[in-house]
Amino acid sequence: MANIEKLHVLKFRNLTDQYLLPNNNINVILGQNGQGKTNFIESIYYLGHGRSFKTKSLKDIIPFDGQQIKISAVVDKQKISINKTRDKSDVLIEEEKITSNSFLSQILPIQVISPDRGFVVGGSPKLKRSYLDWGVFHNNNATLKIYKTYKKTLKNINALLTTGSHIELEGWFTQFANLSVEITNHRISYTEKLRDALERESESKLDSLIKSNDTFYFQIQTGWPKEVNPRSQKQIFEYLLKNKKTFLKTKYLSYGPHRANIEYFLNNKNENHLSRGEQKKMSIVFWLLQVLVLVNNKIKPIILIDDISSELDYNKIKSIINYLTEIDIQIFITDIGNKGLPLNTEKSTIFEIKNGVLEAV
Ligand SMILES: Nc1ncnc2c1ncn2[C@@H]1O[C@H](COP(=O)(O)OP(=O)(O)OP(=O)(O)O)[C@@H](O)[C@H]1O
Ligand SMILES: [Mg+2]
Repeated sequence: MANIEKLHVLKFRNLTDQYLLPNNNINVILGQNGQGKTNFIESIYYLGHGRSFKTKSLKDIIPFDGQQIKISAVVDKQKISINKTRDKSDVLIEEEKITSNSFLSQILPIQVISPDRGFVVGGSPKLKRSYLDWGVFHNNNATLKIYKTYKKTLKNINALLTTGSHIELEGWFTQFANLSVEITNHRISYTEKLRDALERESESKLDSLIKSNDTFYFQIQTGWPKEVNPRSQKQIFEYLLKNKKTFLKTKYLSYGPHRANIEYFLNNKNENHLSRGEQKKMSIVFWLLQVLVLVNNKIKPIILIDDISSELDYNKIKSIINYLTEIDIQIFITDIGNKGLPLNTEKSTIFEIKNGVLEAV
């Protein structure tokens, strides 16, 4: 179970040097606009990913008056620390430098729900794939290698398409077809798990988010056109060969798992026709299902929810908090604090944030 026992934020955006002893269940961070709530959520996310969900550029998160970012934490007795300057990056686990950020995410699986990242329902295909693959990876760490090889293969194919060297392409197409099927199979079996969880939970734990007469549905599009069976290497390979000329013209392979998508429906209404509040609500249902599938797999992720009460009414906030309290995982919720959150006081710690400083209240 992932649990941040101690947190030391030294330098990260507007957050100033501070130690924190989080609650192992619910942590609420209340603060007015611009005090550092999202920055705080982002700093924890950073510890679990070695990168931000808001920006690719380190320069954005280095404090305006500083030269580096520095955060560390004790997670399940292991010390993680991140110290980065513009030209040096030290990411350590138990004082040892790691070679891949995936080591961080194995110790600290994190799910973030933030308007600054965007919601999956109504969101971009890229964001949807990123959430989907988060679940695929945490359910089976071995998939990381497949994704990495896939990415390299795609890069090689695109390079060959750009230079027009079509002789070598066939070999790469074979590898691409194999990896494509592997990824699709992992994604499909994972979405089946999500769907099972949805069926089980929609009448119990999630019932105040999904009303009994609501139907929430999602469907994966594998990134291949309808006439290709995405689980058949042979069909994929043949499709690639048949369309080689077109790809050489466009200089880019526009089919495959890197173009996959998920479509969401609520009561047969496509996600794009839902209100913002409905999109947020259904995104949270989807994320909670991901959490549940992981918890069933004996992995307890940490959940970060930024601005919980924006666009959600009291009952929905209540059922989200109850749900997360019940499955007993560590969560960090931020809020502007004008609605009074339904908290189980025994299981929660409230912090107030002002000018980048958190204080337990
Ligand atoms: N690199 C940085 N160094 C110092 N301060 C920064 C840096 N990046 C952003 N800030 C500042 O941090 C402050 C807090 O930002 P943050 O997004 O965390 O606020 P917030 O509490 O989430 O507000 P809101 O309720 O509006 O979402 C902002 O005033 C922002 O200008
Ligand atoms: Mg914010």
